[in-house]
Amino acid sequence: MKSPNSLFSGRRRSSSGTGSISSSYMTHSPSTSTYSSTTTSSNKSTSGQNPVKIAAKTVAEAFVSCFTPPEPKPSSNDFGDSSDSFKAPSVASDGGSEKRRSRGGSIYGSENNSIHAKEAGSVKFTMGEIYKATRNFSPSLKIGQGGFGIVYKGRLEDGTVVAIKRAKNTIHDKHLGVEFQSEVRTLEKIEHLNLVKFYGYLERGEERIIVVEYVPNGTLREHLDCGPGNVLDFASRLDIGIDVGHAITYLHMYTDHPIIHRDIKSSNILLTENLRAKVADFGFARLAADTESGATHVSTQVKGTAGYLDPEYLSTYQLTEKSDVYSFGVLLVELVTGRRPIEPKREIKERITARWAMKKFTNGDAILTLDPRLERSAANSLAMEKIYELALQCLAPHRHNRPTMRKCAEILWSIRKDYRELAG
Ligand SMILES: Nc1ncnc2c1ncn2[C@@H]1O[C@H](COP(=O)(O)OP(=O)(O)OP(=O)(O)O)[C@@H](O)[C@H]1O
Ligand SMILES: [Mg+2]
Repeated sequence: MKSPNSLFSGRRRSSSGTGSISSSYMTHSPSTSTYSSTTTSSNKSTSGQNPVKIAAKTVAEAFVSCFTPPEPKPSSNDFGDSSDSFKAPSVASDGGSEKRRSRGGSIYGSENNSIHAKEAGSVKFTMGEIYKATRNFSPSLKIGQGGFGIVYKGRLEDGTVVAIKRAKNTIHDKHLGVEFQSEVRTLEKIEHLNLVKFYGYLERGEERIIVVEYVPNGTLREHLDCGPGNVLDFASRLDIGIDVGHAITYLHMYTDHPIIHRDIKSSNILLTENLRAKVADFGFARLAADTESGATHVSTQVKGTAGYLDPEYLSTYQLTEKSDVYSFGVLLVELVTGRRPIEPKREIKERITARWAMKKFTNGDAILTLDPRLERSAANSLAMEKIYELALQCLAPHRHNRPTMRKCAEILWSIRKDYRELAG
């Protein structure tokens, strides 16, 4: 893995109260691949092919994919669950205080979950339960495929609709086991309205299976890729940014240890029917350093997705919460522009979306980067400027210049407040 090069220097006066920064920033990686590489070239990825684990979707596929999935997904009615649908209580992100979900309207409710939904925690499933839930891994229930394996929609005995992620560890790759254990350990502990809920797991022989909350409305990336008629409006994008901000703040402020997500990206943000966000995929999560000891986690493994990777983490292998903040900055730019972090088919100066957008912003031309499908209203334009101001800070090359995730969430809250007042 190459050390990053700082590609741009920008200087700008603050216009939003989020503080001004002058910095050189931004780096880029050559593709949208998912990285799972090590410092030693002999080390193999889970696929056993290359140290750089290529994401299941190629860049080309990613470009043509829209909200309509490439293969038929099971409909939300496949399990006939409308009658016993359940919704979470109508509360904002609460830092995980909600222990048991009950009936009641909520913007966060995943419509397909039963009121008998399992509690989060260490729930071990049997193979029989999994076979039953997925109708023997019926291809008609396949909803996706990623670095971990195939994802199925399933229904548990008690009616809970779930997503079942199945990795088949056929090549006795130790690495997969470690990743699996990592995901399980993290998921067991966390509970937050904006994080995909963990229901349980199964590890038997070569089978590695994770059962999580089914989130019914696709990924943020799929929504951003959509054409006219399905455009995610500016207010929804702002709400999603805040939801993600809350979720990551919760992880970073987790009571036992800060938890670093390590793979914040638009395809790991799942949306409910009400377009609220739930952050998924803690396969790359690692417990952060013990902040009291002041130590930082140093690893020889670099994980994450190109285009979202913190340049300082890439060059030092020191992992801190601020790596998530960097990825969040990339995500903010994605929300405003609708573009992917890396757009290889564009002319060179527009290929790295965050670099392009930040340069336009610092030159006073931010409006040119606003997703063309969004209205150029005063409210949108002003909020866009403020979001960019925040993104610029998140994308600072050195982590000590980046805000905390909590600060990001607070700033987004105030941006939304002003936005609502102006938009009326
Ligand atoms: N909890 C879930 N609820 C509903 N659909 C899901 C859920 N988890 C995953 N999916 C679907 O399965 C697809 C694959 O997910 P997966 O997390 O395995 O891979 P990915 O996010 O595309 O890539 P990566 O392995 O880099 O995270 C997602 O794009 C989404 O469409
Ligand atoms: Mg994922």
